[in-house]
Amino acid sequence: MAALPVLALLVLLCWGGPHAAGQKRKEMVLSEKVNQLMEWTSKRPVIRMNGDKFRRFVKAPPRNYSVIVMFTALQPHRQCVVCKQADEEYQILANSWRYSSAFTNKIFFAMVDFDEGSDVFQMLNMNSAPTFINFPAKGKPKRGDTYELQVRGFAAEQLARWVADRTDVNIRVIRPPNYAGPLMLGLLLAVISGLVYLRGSNLDFLYNKTGWAFVALCFVLAMTSGQMWNHIRGPPYAHKNPHTGQMSYIHGSSQAQFVAETHIVLLFNGGVTLGMVFLHEAATSDMDVGKRKIMCIAGIGLVVLFFSWLLSVFRSKYHGYPYSFLMS
Ligand SMILES: *[C@@H]1O[C@H](CO)[C@@H](O)[C@H](O)[C@H]1NC(C)=O
Repeated sequence: MAALPVLALLVLLCWGGPHAAGQKRKEMVLSEKVNQLMEWTSKRPVIRMNGDKFRRFVKAPPRNYSVIVMFTALQPHRQCVVCKQADEEYQILANSWRYSSAFTNKIFFAMVDFDEGSDVFQMLNMNSAPTFINFPAKGKPKRGDTYELQVRGFAAEQLARWVADRTDVNIRVIRPPNYAGPLMLGLLLAVISGLVYLRGSNLDFLYNKTGWAFVALCFVLAMTSGQMWNHIRGPPYAHKNPHTGQMSYIHGSSQAQFVAETHIVLLFNGGVTLGMVFLHEAATSDMDVGKRKIMCIAGIGLVVLFFSWLLSVFRSKYHGYPYSFLMS
């Protein structure tokens, strides 16, 4: 009868022993991994990973941390302009987190370059860069764990919003100061005060309708061409296909645009406006007939040019072309 508790104890020891030992080993591996990641992060906010490091720290359990990984191609011979711009934003994001007072070991930022870890690209069946993926602490990445770069752009603020969405870690993006805005404002004030000075106390130019119309028009053109969207989403200037060397200035999707594209739109919108002004002047001004005829033809030309251009852009944007440019 006394043998039964002893037997039970033996069974418990045999089962629980290895289990507890395994648990302990796991715990040790985990704390070793976390320590190593913390050490790397203290040196560089974005940890560079090759295939081996990626498999050990991102893929393999045990993990109690999320890793955001940027898959990219930064080597000059890849000529991935977008990758460089995305990298700058990603560094700003990782730096903001690294020096934040809320910094914890819950989340790490890493990157895999195509030329250092092409095996990882193959393993994940990835054929475009840059790509951002969140590897959550538990389980595999789901659909939303791949950042929608084409839709959201790669501004650090957008990335931070996505990170907050996926990991509950809120990062306040802190950018190195940008003096362009204050500089422009100062320039504008200098020009205005210069004008006031030159005109003495005569402020009649403030009542100049054409002047105000011109300023308003500049504002409207800037806004309708999508400068605000650029400011918020931070798209690249243009895109060069490394295989054909061909430059694209118009984004292939109707969901996004390049900076160059907005300049082109600005130019054509300005052109059609000028065309309308010409047509109006040709019809109503009291200049001689020859000049008015020339204005009329120029006006019609500009308007026709605008609409034929519009048609071709619509065709290319709604037809769509692949965005991927690695290994394809
Ligand atoms: C993850 O586990 C390690 C080791 O036990 C621990 O040091 C670390 O604080 C844990 N991280 C989180 C976010 O709980």
